[in-house]
Amino acid sequence: MSNAFVTGWGTAVPDGVLTNADLEARLDTTDAWILERTGIRERRIAGPGDTSASLGATAAASAIKQAGLTPSDIDLLVVATSTPEQLMPHTGAFLGERLGLRCGSFDLNSACSGFVYATVVAAAMLQTGCRHVLVVGTETMSRITDPDDRATHILFGDGAGAAVMSSADAHGGLLAWDLGCDGSATDILQIPAGGSRLPTSAATVARGDHYIKMQGQEVFKRAVRAVVDSSALTLERAGCTAADVAWFVPHQANTRIIDTAATRLGIEADRVVANIDRFGNTSAASIPLALFEAVDDGRVADGDLVLLAGFGAGMTWASALLRWGAPE
Ligand code: ACO
Repeated sequence: MSNAFVTGWGTAVPDGVLTNADLEARLDTTDAWILERTGIRERRIAGPGDTSASLGATAAASAIKQAGLTPSDIDLLVVATSTPEQLMPHTGAFLGERLGLRCGSFDLNSACSGFVYATVVAAAMLQTGCRHVLVVGTETMSRITDPDDRATHILFGDGAGAAVMSSADAHGGLLAWDLGCDGSATDILQIPAGGSRLPTSAATVARGDHYIKMQGQEVFKRAVRAVVDSSALTLERAGCTAADVAWFVPHQANTRIIDTAATRLGIEADRVVANIDRFGNTSAASIPLALFEAVDDGRVADGDLVLLAGFGAGMTWASALLRWGAPE
């Protein structure tokens, strides 16, 4: 029996802080509105030298070190991002170069579900002979949000989280998962231009079609449903119930989505990990930023059942149940 365990982890956020007061001074919005509707107080914003690869590499270097490994021990790098370094080459090439990696690498774009998708892919690759797979969720959302759009600019932040996933013949690690995508809803959360469907042109830039467009209420409704249904399926697949879950770590998009989903699942607030107030929505980085904060401050203990659940553009969704702790 070969299972997939998190054996090292790390996070990185840029130094720059953007508070609700900063936004209040520039946009037609208020601290009270943002806090009540989203739960966000501030977010970290990339400086001129920060990119998705640089933040991801910082998080990944910590993860490799903590796993007691060196870069040459990594057999595969999977980077979850919807804010790639550039359209080509993939972000893993830039990130891997910063770490001195020469193993295979690829990017995976499942938006905010990306880290959970990448974790599941890593577990599958560990079954095929890889010993250590490096999973990185990294985003510079500030580079794709319209600074003049109060509906989206208030929501997003930048950051990265990384995990070394290792195989071991032991009980625990990744126990069950669910991945899904409803492609009938590609229009409710999208960047319309810059791809093969609508290549960048002077006209697309003039329209701001290189920025995120979002139908917030529609995303909200679907997000709650996706998180609840996917989490329930993953728990069922593991033969567990919500009562068994020590920590629920949902994608950090909106406090009201998190609270509603947790309530519907029957998970009380004191078993929910949330740090959206300080980081906003960091897309594929949000789940590792929340999870590893809770691990580092001692909330998540060895043996705990941890339920991860994400949703994002696509609309994608993903959930995974982990038995936290090193293989024994
Ligand atoms: N400040 C003040 N007022 C605002 C702001 C703002 N920043 N933004 C919108 N409003 C106004 C609207 O214009 C509207 O005014 P009107 O009634 O005069 O028309 C009013 O506030 C209500 O707007 P709604 O969009 O109905 O507000 P809602 O309560 O739905 O909250 C929000 C908006 C926070 C975006 C919410 O819908 C949400 O969080 N949705 C989910 C978004 C999400 O999770 N996105 C990320 C997905 S993950 C990924 O893949 C990137």
